Amino acid sequence: MNILGINAYHGNASAAIVCDGRLVAAVEEERFNRVKYAAGFPAQAIRYCLGEAGLKLREIDHVAVPRNPWARLGTKLFYAVRMPSFARERAKVIRKFTGIREALAKALDAGPEAICAEFHRVEHHQAHLASAFFVSPFERAAVLSADGLGDFASTMWATGEGSRMKIHGAVAFPHSLGLYYTAVTQYLGFLKFGDEYKVMGLAAYGQPEYLDGFREVAQSNGRAFRLGLDYFTHHRTGPEMSWVEADKTPALGRMYSDKMPERFGPVRAPEELLEARHRNLAASLQARLEEIYLTMLRALRVESGSKAVCLAGGVAFNCVANGKIFDETPFEQVYVQPAAGDAGLAVGAAYYLWHQKLRHPRRFVMDHAYWGPEYSAGRIRAAIKANAIASSGYSVSELPEEELACAAARIVADGKILGWFQGRAEWGPRALGNRSIVADPRRTEMKEILNRRIKHREIFRPFAPSILAEATGEWFEKSHPSPFMTLAYTVRAEKRSLIPAPTHVDGTGRLQTVNRDANPRYWRLIREFGNLTGVPVVLNTSFNDNEPIVCRPEEAIDCFLRTQMDALVLGDFLVTKS
Ligand SMILES: [Fe+2]
Repeated sequence: MNILGINAYHGNASAAIVCDGRLVAAVEEERFNRVKYAAGFPAQAIRYCLGEAGLKLREIDHVAVPRNPWARLGTKLFYAVRMPSFARERAKVIRKFTGIREALAKALDAGPEAICAEFHRVEHHQAHLASAFFVSPFERAAVLSADGLGDFASTMWATGEGSRMKIHGAVAFPHSLGLYYTAVTQYLGFLKFGDEYKVMGLAAYGQPEYLDGFREVAQSNGRAFRLGLDYFTHHRTGPEMSWVEADKTPALGRMYSDKMPERFGPVRAPEELLEARHRNLAASLQARLEEIYLTMLRALRVESGSKAVCLAGGVAFNCVANGKIFDETPFEQVYVQPAAGDAGLAVGAAYYLWHQKLRHPRRFVMDHAYWGPEYSAGRIRAAIKANAIASSGYSVSELPEEELACAAARIVADGKILGWFQGRAEWGPRALGNRSIVADPRRTEMKEILNRRIKHREIFRPFAPSILAEATGEWFEKSHPSPFMTLAYTVRAEKRSLIPAPTHVDGTGRLQTVNRDANPRYWRLIREFGNLTGVPVVLNTSFNDNEPIVCRPEEAIDCFLRTQMDALVLGDFLVTKS
């Protein structure tokens, strides 16, 4: 049985294909159309997924869509009456969803009659919960989904057991941890969709001196939480995300009210210098999020009776908060799948259908993130040739795997910046060793060099370490696996001076633990680097420059040349400056 999951008309549009309960492919539309967080209909992602599975449109049995217009209908109608502009926006989205069958047919150059599949609606947060639990390694687990908003809820929790989940509760609009974080992110002058990540990085530089104030902004409600709505506008003006149809970029309107600057001081303009007050506000925002999040998790531990927890939703990307789960809650195991945000809904909707609705037993664990496109050696060779790289000051050699890993490790150990392009592209927003830029973690200056030459991003944002999984406990204070860079742990005090570049100012690192089975080539690169230097860690940042992570070899070559990296590995090929 073939199930196509589609996250459409929403940020992070994506598609996934599940055949007889096994995930075959999953990818975000942004990797193809090159628009970060792209919304709209994921036509190219769907074409890729079907191609990868070798399926024709008529061979799809079910299509699962993670949005249910009937969920919380009463609340939706209540707000639609109060906010006519919001009602109009919703009507537009619902019309788009009504045409999803036609959009799918069009994406595959077919008529709607070529579709034999049955269509299913899965509520947003139930799809998030499914995306976390049904692909986890746990037979039984607590499950939490927390984000901005989807189907008029922001949070939902459940217990999963075998192929069933039992929902225990939810937090409905307008109360939302995601919108809380977004509103304060905007107030701090970071206005782009997805900027919450920057503020989490900034938080490490401050002190939570406004924590009491933020306890009014987001109030703990025993089991859950509620927002101090005076500080917000979304409950009055409408919460719906919109996107610019022309370029598919998602956008959110202003979400904080005038009470925010009245209480915490002037709004920061985007170009304004970051001062101690801003850093302390970011620290307070983060500290309050952690208080609420960890309180919810402790309650969920009691309610579920499970030692393992699966997390999804945008808040599950808060790796700093996730890293504290082991010390501050009784949970002993944590699983966050790599596309924990809305892209992951495509996988979640498909698995919700397969298990929860169709009652099939579990047989799949997502133990790696490599579900995207792969390009053959022939295709890579052609891309290198088409770019005439060899005649413009670069030498290209094709090497056996072991030799390639040794050469690449030597380049990194010499302080050079290496583009590393291998195998199938990662599912989710983190580069995990197949579309990565790799650098020497021992060099303090590497952060500044990467920012100046390649990444052009804020200096306060940390870079991540990739470590051999077996060495985790020697270098970090925790050794629980973090294969998808969704947990931040404290670097052992005696090791911090050895890996200064990916150690954040607060002594933590948002690590990727690299398992040999999950990614043998990347594991080998890090092992060779360890053999040369005694440090089984490399600095890993995504292969891009203010754009979606590169997908095709052509994009990798283009980014490599544009940003003047020192060397590039594409499959078996090594490109160096001659
Ligand atoms: Fe979501």
